[in-house]
Amino acid sequence: MSAAAAAPLGLLAELTHRCPLACPYCSNPLDLAARDSELSAAIWARVFHEAAALGVLQLHLSGGEPGARRDLAEITAAAHDPGLYSNLITSAIGFTRARLVGLRAAGLDHVQISIQDTEADPADRIAGYAGAHVHKLAIARIAVELGLALTINVVLHRANVARLRELVALAVELGAGRVELAHAQYYGWALRNRAALMPTRAQVDLATQHLAEMRARYAGRVAIDAVVPDYYAQRPKPCMGGWGRRSLNVTPSGRVLPCHAAETIPGLAFWSVRERSLAEIWTRSPGFLAFRGTDWMREPCRSCERREIDFGGCRCQALLLADDAAAADPACALSPRHDAMLALAAAATVADDRAYVYRARAPGAATSAPHAAAALEPFAP
Ligand code: SF4
Ligand code: FES
Repeated sequence: MSAAAAAPLGLLAELTHRCPLACPYCSNPLDLAARDSELSAAIWARVFHEAAALGVLQLHLSGGEPGARRDLAEITAAAHDPGLYSNLITSAIGFTRARLVGLRAAGLDHVQISIQDTEADPADRIAGYAGAHVHKLAIARIAVELGLALTINVVLHRANVARLRELVALAVELGAGRVELAHAQYYGWALRNRAALMPTRAQVDLATQHLAEMRARYAGRVAIDAVVPDYYAQRPKPCMGGWGRRSLNVTPSGRVLPCHAAETIPGLAFWSVRERSLAEIWTRSPGFLAFRGTDWMREPCRSCERREIDFGGCRCQALLLADDAAAADPACALSPRHDAMLALAAAATVADDRAYVYRARAPGAATSAPHAAAALEPFAP
């Protein structure tokens, strides 16, 4: 398959890396973007118009916590203007009914709220924020009352995977139309916390049974998205639907990436919307061309019948675990590094050090905050 670019369907706009929560599996980079480097609402508006012209249909307003932007309503209106379907991906902290009403009036279509667990104590402990869980549930209910489509997202890990059924039931009770059950992805913060987060094989097998049970119970009422966690898979996921194939991420400071972890791959140049148009970046930037299509593949992917299904899996994970971003993702049983990946999972589940290293809330802020000390810092957008 050639590296010609089809139109992207989705754009993830990371409006800020600031966040009141401190989840130890956060997908943001270890090196967080500073507030004074964030794109202005005017630049975001230009990017959204360029995205719509390029073919993007869905816009995800994300972070960090996008609610940390005081100009979020202005940014949301700018997304609505060229006709993008907008999805706010939020922790719900910093939101009130009045603020959601304002975003609805600005054209917001959909809200995705993360919940950490079924009960407040374990949920707030892993989020590093006392009171978060109760507030999330309240905001989820308000979103549904206001007519916003709701997705509940849950990151699964050793401490909550046993409650998969209860988590789905809670999402249904809240009025969600979709539930995303996403096992922690071990890059960045989650990689630091792998020993504390990794579920056991027995837990994953049981969760697979529970997932089938929930899909049968709620068929036709709620869509449930879930994938096998990489470290226990036989075949990899098509990360991002293929590199530079369907979607793009724009960082708070304006660099455009094929995935959130792409900057961990050394030697790739990623262009910025401050200097170039989105169309130029999508079609010509070296970072997007590097792994687009299948021409870059080596064996076993090059001659594999699944090469245009999973696109060799995840480039960032291949770099991390096989020391080569062009290798087959070690989640694939055909990878020569697959057994080593299984051994890493097994070792993580019996490791001694299981304390969470919390994500920093902003550049330079302390990590490793224990629950009590991290609790309920004032958060004013
Ligand atoms: Fe996918 Fe490569 Fe494995 Fe084939 S060999 S299943 S293309 S990762
Ligand atoms: Fe970068 Fe998968 S996270 S390609």
